[in-house]
Amino acid sequence: MIQDIEKILFSTEELDACVSRIAGQIDKDYAGKTPIMIGILQGSFVFLADLVRKMELPIQVEFMSASSYGSGTESTGSVNIRLDSSVDLKGKDVILVEDILDSGNTLSRLVPLLKDRQVNSLEVCVLLDKPSRRVREVEVAYRGYSIPDAFVVGYGLDYDQKYRNLPYIGILKPEVYENDLD
Ligand code: XMP
Ligand code: MG
Repeated sequence: MIQDIEKILFSTEELDACVSRIAGQIDKDYAGKTPIMIGILQGSFVFLADLVRKMELPIQVEFMSASSYGSGTESTGSVNIRLDSSVDLKGKDVILVEDILDSGNTLSRLVPLLKDRQVNSLEVCVLLDKPSRRVREVEVAYRGYSIPDAFVVGYGLDYDQKYRNLPYIGILKPEVYENDLD
């Protein structure tokens, strides 16, 4: 796997410090509350697991699954909800946790969908943000890093379902997906 990585963008240690910073901010902002952290599968599973273990507040964990990507590296624009949370979100403080905000297609679909459930509050937390590729506006309350337009993998992020278990975030060598185009 490492041979497919062009450059390590964020090391395990950098990610650890970044996730600690976000956990501290959420703890402070939600003091006295029990937020529901909704991870968007599959990409957020590592980030969410690390994030909640650094938080001191009581929390609930839920998952949803949405997908705007096929197996390639470009968003298709249409977002499928493949798995929805079944808990009653009425009156709850919800934090949507996503690995990466890219075109904004996924979150701009999920945010209104969840706000419609009469939540008390809803905020978005993303580990990575690629602002240069935004097509739809998304308001982000917690952001780990803004990154340039490169395809990144590791720490939950995949290319064609691979590389999620890398303990760092790296830029994938373009030849890996260029060779793969069929
Ligand atoms: P949108 O375009 O809807 O994208 O904001 C969000 C989803 O796109 C995936 N994505 C990536 N996955 N490396 C990845 O492994 C990337 O560089 C990348 N950019 C976008 C991701 O699944 C995210 O949930
Ligand atoms: Mg994803």
